[in-house]
Amino acid sequence: MSTTNSKFPKDFLWGGATAANQMEGGFHEGNKGLNIADVLPGGKQRLRILKEPGFNFEIDHDKYSYPNHEGIDFYHRYKEDIALFAEMGFKVYRMSIAWTRIFPNGNETEPNEEGLAFYDRVFDELHKHGIEPVVTISHYEMPLTLVKEYGGWRSREVIGFFERYVNAILNRYKDKVKYWMTFNEINSALHFPIMSMGFSIESHEDKYQSIFQAFHHQFVASSIAVKACHEIIPDAQIGCMLLAAPIYPYDSNPENVMFALEEERIFNYYCGDVQVRGEYPAYANTFFKKHNVTLDIREGDLELIKENTVDYIGLSYYMSSTQKKNKLEEEMIQGNLLEGVKNPYLQASDWGWEIDPVGLRIVLNNLYDRYQVPLFIVENGLGAYDKLEEDGSIQDDYRIEYLRSHLAATADAIEDGVEIMGFTSWGCIDLVSASTGEFSKRYGFIYVDKQDDGSGTLERKKKKSFYWYKDVIASNGENL
Ligand code: BG6
Repeated sequence: MSTTNSKFPKDFLWGGATAANQMEGGFHEGNKGLNIADVLPGGKQRLRILKEPGFNFEIDHDKYSYPNHEGIDFYHRYKEDIALFAEMGFKVYRMSIAWTRIFPNGNETEPNEEGLAFYDRVFDELHKHGIEPVVTISHYEMPLTLVKEYGGWRSREVIGFFERYVNAILNRYKDKVKYWMTFNEINSALHFPIMSMGFSIESHEDKYQSIFQAFHHQFVASSIAVKACHEIIPDAQIGCMLLAAPIYPYDSNPENVMFALEEERIFNYYCGDVQVRGEYPAYANTFFKKHNVTLDIREGDLELIKENTVDYIGLSYYMSSTQKKNKLEEEMIQGNLLEGVKNPYLQASDWGWEIDPVGLRIVLNNLYDRYQVPLFIVENGLGAYDKLEEDGSIQDDYRIEYLRSHLAATADAIEDGVEIMGFTSWGCIDLVSASTGEFSKRYGFIYVDKQDDGSGTLERKKKKSFYWYKDVIASNGENL
């Protein structure tokens, strides 16, 4: 039932979010090539592999399992899944295109028709149900050939391959997709370059030199995508996508406040400053001097970046992070690719991610104060163990509580004056977790019968949260 007292604007874009590599499966079908996610093993060891040097980017079935290969088989079951999204009342569905379905190796000259046709079918199915797609162009799934033969985004040559990919999908889907985003959680590469930049830092390598040069290549590539999108689809909007985690000082010790501010600038704002304002910020020069970073910036790069800034900011929010200049081992906590100290005021999820709905209101206000462009919450949710009851139901009240409090914080931010386009809950259907390659870390409103040991029928079941979210959407956020 639609009501009038809602704090959410009437055209608010409610929906859910996923990424191709974490759910499509069909990793060898339709001429798809291998991507970085296809070689990442499942299980908690994935985090260690993501962090350490020396990963060989090979598949080793004797040692590891690869849950992303089958995912939840969206490749064959998309009709059933989209019908369930429609039943919840989704206005939008955030998904990504697998670059390797379109250019299997990344460096071909012509796109793969089978891959293009697959997404035509998905977009048509969404439209049939009145759901608008929101598409991430690159979500942790760089073609493996570009990783192995070019060193990932270290190489400037990759910009040209990305441009070809972008032109192919913008031209093909210009009548079907009106919301785009360039690189998922672009800033996450500061700590974990492997997933989005396609390389891990080798022991002899200068970490910051490689990462900030790769960022520069991505900024140029992102601006090329923004320019092409505005030219090819004038009525579309294209955003950047940031991992947003407000960074709190542990206490009022000015040293800790300054430390948190510096961390916040280089992690939370650096990419946004370039992609939204179109300029390298002044503090970057100080950071580069301190860490001996010299960027190779070619003629025309800075003008391109300045003239092609994004229309909106897509962001993920799961937790805040608390920082202190001198950290003791026993105070530390890890979560969402971040390391900080424990915040005494917050509880953490089973994966150590500190739950902080007020942090969402803070980050929304901070981003809007700084940039004054619309914000789109394209990821938020709780990764939790779910229990299948004897009667077949899943009573996920903890997930409802998490989302309820974060949507209440979103409503508060709207009242604060922040312009928010929409909310797409992460992993609206259970999928493979990105950082740990597990099925058991579930985010969905829809349960998928698939377990960490590979067993399961892939049957879909509606959780309690499915009915709750349906009511939230129907009441435009009034019934939280
Ligand atoms: C974000 C990513 O970091 O968080 C998603 O964009 C990811 O791909 C999500 O799945 C949740 O993280 P995880 O590790 O719990 O899957």
